[in-house]
Amino acid sequence: SPYWPGLIEAYRDRLPVSAATPVVTLQEGATPLLPAPELSRRTGCDVWLKVEGANPTGSFKDRGMTMAISKAVEEGAQAVICASTGNTSASAAAYAARAGLVCAVLVPQGKIATGKLAQALVHGAKLLQVEGNFDDCLALASKLAIDYPVSLVNSVNQYRIEGQKTASFEIVDVLGDAPDVHCLPVGNAGNITAYWQGYREYRDTSETPGPATRTPAMWGFQAAGAAPIVTGKVVEQPSTIATAIRIGNPASWTKALDARDTSGGRIDAVTDRAILAAYRLLARSEAVFVEPASAASVAGLLQVAEAGGLEPGQRVVCTVTGNGLKDPEWAISGAPAPVTIPVDAAAAAAQLGL
Ligand code: F0G
Repeated sequence: SPYWPGLIEAYRDRLPVSAATPVVTLQEGATPLLPAPELSRRTGCDVWLKVEGANPTGSFKDRGMTMAISKAVEEGAQAVICASTGNTSASAAAYAARAGLVCAVLVPQGKIATGKLAQALVHGAKLLQVEGNFDDCLALASKLAIDYPVSLVNSVNQYRIEGQKTASFEIVDVLGDAPDVHCLPVGNAGNITAYWQGYREYRDTSETPGPATRTPAMWGFQAAGAAPIVTGKVVEQPSTIATAIRIGNPASWTKALDARDTSGGRIDAVTDRAILAAYRLLARSEAVFVEPASAASVAGLLQVAEAGGLEPGQRVVCTVTGNGLKDPEWAISGAPAPVTIPVDAAAAAAQLGL
């Protein structure tokens, strides 16, 4: 049917909801799974992009937030709180507005993209800029949720993971089976945890045979200046231009290691330079405008391919997690300044080289 009711209704029997759950939805999910011809050419593989920037607030967080906010309402919450590098706060603010809940957000001062700040504000969140990094914000939000009547909607909330796992279901539904490899950026490590849970559930489904017969190798990529899972050490001062994944002590660290190891996958670091190169390639060659953090999945795929770590012919899905319009700074700073002309066809033609 052409009507998409949102992911809770679409996958109701695979989610912890009941008839008593008031579904709060912005009709998130059903995002494009787009073939990527240039990435396929470069890698010799069959590469697809799961375009999560097409969700209502422009990131994958909406999958988790429809669940977290619906369950918060079911449980009688009046207010929700989150720490965020920007996308979680944008999503929480929107879904809380839809549900009529108060939403409080804690963000690292000066380290979130302008578009995300705008989203939290326009949806009416109470926003505090914290003099610290994301890890400090999450510690603070967790403490507030223990000491005050406010529900935490970060991905340490299992309902967030339950919602986000549906991206794996959609991929298997479109491809007819799981891919060989799944690449995604890793920050707080909730999403790699969710995808891995989704792929396993779809393989282990009670129907035989299930929608998927196998699971992919999970490949996660952290920014080199914020790569605690790669180095095995908390990063006290994480640093990367990909502010969405500027995280030094991921909440789902152990679960990310489990996803890596039980899937036969990897978690590697990619430099900011490689992230920006992938960001530009995605926009120019695949026509997909993502935010810098999202390009870490593609940067990682290309890095492994160049090192000979990819078997030709494999089917690969890269999740691109957020919309480029949230953080246009890198698009503008990397391009030549626009030329100004008078209202004159000859002047325009001369500038355009026509
Ligand atoms: N990509 C984007 C665009 C993100 O916003 C995030 C996380 C990630 C990737 C990494 O996902 O944390 O599940 O490993 N953003 C969080 C936020 C931290 O607050 O918006 P993860």
